[in-house]
Amino acid sequence: MTIPITKTYFGDEEMRAVQLPLESGWVVQGPFVKKFEEQFSAFTGARFSVATSSCTTALHIAVAALGLKPGDEVIVPAFTWVSTANVVEYMGAKPIFCDIDLRTFNINMEQIETLITPHTVGIIPVHLFGLCAEMDSVMKIAVKHDLWVVEDAACAFGSWYNGRHAGTFGDMGCFSFHPRKSITTGEGGMITTEREDFDGLSRSLRDHGASRSDHARHTEKAAFLLAEYNHLGYNFRMTDIQGALGCAQLERAQWILDARTACARRYDKILADLEWLDIPVVPEGYRHGYQAYVCLFRPEPPSFRNVAHLHEQRNEVMMLLEGKGISTRQGTHAPVIQGYYAEKYSLRPEQFPQAYLADRLSLTLPLYPQMTEAEQELVAANLQEAVGAKLGA
Ligand SMILES: Cc1ncc(COP(=O)(O)O)c(C=O)c1O
Repeated sequence: MTIPITKTYFGDEEMRAVQLPLESGWVVQGPFVKKFEEQFSAFTGARFSVATSSCTTALHIAVAALGLKPGDEVIVPAFTWVSTANVVEYMGAKPIFCDIDLRTFNINMEQIETLITPHTVGIIPVHLFGLCAEMDSVMKIAVKHDLWVVEDAACAFGSWYNGRHAGTFGDMGCFSFHPRKSITTGEGGMITTEREDFDGLSRSLRDHGASRSDHARHTEKAAFLLAEYNHLGYNFRMTDIQGALGCAQLERAQWILDARTACARRYDKILADLEWLDIPVVPEGYRHGYQAYVCLFRPEPPSFRNVAHLHEQRNEVMMLLEGKGISTRQGTHAPVIQGYYAEKYSLRPEQFPQAYLADRLSLTLPLYPQMTEAEQELVAANLQEAVGAKLGA
């Protein structure tokens, strides 16, 4: 038996959906992308939604729309997918890494303010693995220091904080529809914003800086004239085949999210008594989207003194599970220890102790909506057996 880290959920509806643009002959960004955007706004409550080719390109558009430029500094968490920081680099600006809270894996609220300098222009909090960052505190700091906020909500479809969906707190939010996420369009992303000016500018920037879309041009008068190009834009468009797939996925989104939550609750129960494993926390006022079920392997309180040893043990446990056909993954990585950032900014793990421990000791268990109770019990039993073999636990 093989248990993958995740599985997409596609039914007849998705199979049929992707045929529709093929039958119509219009396959680039068009009516299905528009419908997907409208459905996304209806689900999240965001005023505007703008589909893109990925979350990375959504983030890139967001920081470009906000006018990020060389010399500017942007605060980003030290434990996140590398693209959160990369988009700051693309604009010639400097990411300033903030350590995380090892309990939630999200940005450490106490440290953010200490990193603000006269060059700071914005913050990119990340709602990692589907748990929102503490957005009230982030927004308070942003208002106090006149900073913009772009929410990296790549993992946060179906994630709520104090009754509001992720992506509706800051100036802009950016989502991912990569197959590791709860709903997928293959590759794909979405920008959400409450501001009409950012909506218009994002639509233009994703489409080479055009003043109107190709589909609008083809269906309106004077189709023979090209649009005007007044911004330095990109080709970050989603195709209509992806848009149609996204619509079908959104139709079943609540079922997917409920099924993921049910699986998470089952893991919570089965794993509750394992003293060597910290399971995901859900503080009061949060609804976790469970993009992933990420634990912390901690047979002892982790520190720089024992992390190398614990990391080795964690990897051996993961290797044993892989041998049994059960996939696990590290949660995500710490960009601060990746070559590009470590070398360019002379960063050392000791500067970001919690992010480093998360990188070395996080452990993601398989989770997908069609996962059975028997599969989850098998994962838990094999995990306990593997840890028993390694630690004598
Ligand atoms: C926190 C975070 N930000 C950004 C991304 C990038 O998303 P995409 O693969 O859609 O570009 C990811 C992808 O996993 C992510 O986890």
